[in-house]
Amino acid sequence: MNAPTEAADQARRTIRVDLAGRAYDIAIGPGLLDRTGELAAGLLAAPRVIIVSDHTVAPLYAARLAAAFEKTGVRTRVLAVPAGETSKEFTGFGQLMNDLLDQRPDRKTTLVALGGGVVGDLTGFAAAVLLRGVDFIQVPTTLLAQVDSSVGGKTGINTRHGKNLVGAFYQPRLVVIDTDLLDTLPRRELLAGYAEVAKYGLIDEPDFFTWCEENGAALLAGDAARRSYAIEQSCLAKARIVAADERETTDLRALLNLGHTFGHALEAETGFGPDLLHGEAVGAGMALAFDLSARMGLCPAVDAERVRRHLAAVGLPVRLRAIGGGNRRDWQTARLIDHMRGDKKAEAGKLTFVLARGIGRAFVSRDVDETVLHGLLDDAIAA
Ligand code: NAD
Ligand code: GLY
Repeated sequence: MNAPTEAADQARRTIRVDLAGRAYDIAIGPGLLDRTGELAAGLLAAPRVIIVSDHTVAPLYAARLAAAFEKTGVRTRVLAVPAGETSKEFTGFGQLMNDLLDQRPDRKTTLVALGGGVVGDLTGFAAAVLLRGVDFIQVPTTLLAQVDSSVGGKTGINTRHGKNLVGAFYQPRLVVIDTDLLDTLPRRELLAGYAEVAKYGLIDEPDFFTWCEENGAALLAGDAARRSYAIEQSCLAKARIVAADERETTDLRALLNLGHTFGHALEAETGFGPDLLHGEAVGAGMALAFDLSARMGLCPAVDAERVRRHLAAVGLPVRLRAIGGGNRRDWQTARLIDHMRGDKKAEAGKLTFVLARGIGRAFVSRDVDETVLHGLLDDAIAA
């Protein structure tokens, strides 16, 4: 073993997602992209992988990932889809399935998702249905994907009825998180992923939220040790929740939707486009969920203020007027609530929220007074 490999081994952390019969590891550390072949050895049904990436990430990292497999005797092919949410539409999905089949895969071929949440969700769903199911590995390249979407097996695509409405729970065989890959990620994308990091503290780890308050700015400025720590803590939290409630059959996994009911409405109103990234919507949504909790007398107002203050301090757009690329939007309470009713979390038209009794004390509520909700949104629009 040469020195760089030893150093990489020391820096590597492995977290197990403990699912009976389908348990898998999340390997986290710097420099792991070049070691993906070794990490996957023993997991591949045959020495053949197809790497799926996007047009931005593939030129940066696909050749290195392919080389990492090839040095362990694994044959590779690389396919790239357009970057961005449009690749998660039926057309993009159909194109990818045909491109995959052009490679003449067999049921022992493994797909490898190299990219952000879009590539991960798309490739995971392709793996779930290609030849009725082949294995897949996640190599996430955005902070959002490293701390959330690559772990837990939610895969899927979008339809004209909404996001992620066609999909499957389909777990990867391995997740390889190379923390160095975030060096090329645009700051806005890093910040959007950070909202999901802070989310874990707000759900049930108040000490981690305090850590975020003290270290978030340094992490976002590029501090590698803090970045790794935040990714590890997030993956530990996600692995714990997924192991206990893989298919969201209790309200436990639903806690990961903190900020999502508001966030979904904001995203729907901004067209799920570049004016508001998913993680940004979650950040603004978490601030609103804490405000609502405070207005309903469930949560101390100081806790709601702490959430809003921290997210704004790192640069997330928590005020509605900060959303929309500088143009003040014509937000309307009734329209936002209408989007909430169309959200897949709503049950029989009844709104579902993740609320909180304080920082780190989140719970699922289907019992929100709509007059309070109206008042909150009216005030948020006017602020
Ligand atoms: P994304 O995949 O669109 O990536 C954001 C942008 O960053 C893209 O343009 C991409 O090309 C670029 N990029 C990615 N990695 C890069 C790198 N290292 N360097 C430079 N550029 C890079 O967006 P995302 O925020 O990662 O994911 C959003 C998607 O994730 C949404 O579709 C959402 O529904 C989904 N999601 C899924 C889950 C889940 O549990 N499955 C959870 C949260 C979000
Ligand atoms: N990102 C929400 C979940 O995985 O359940």
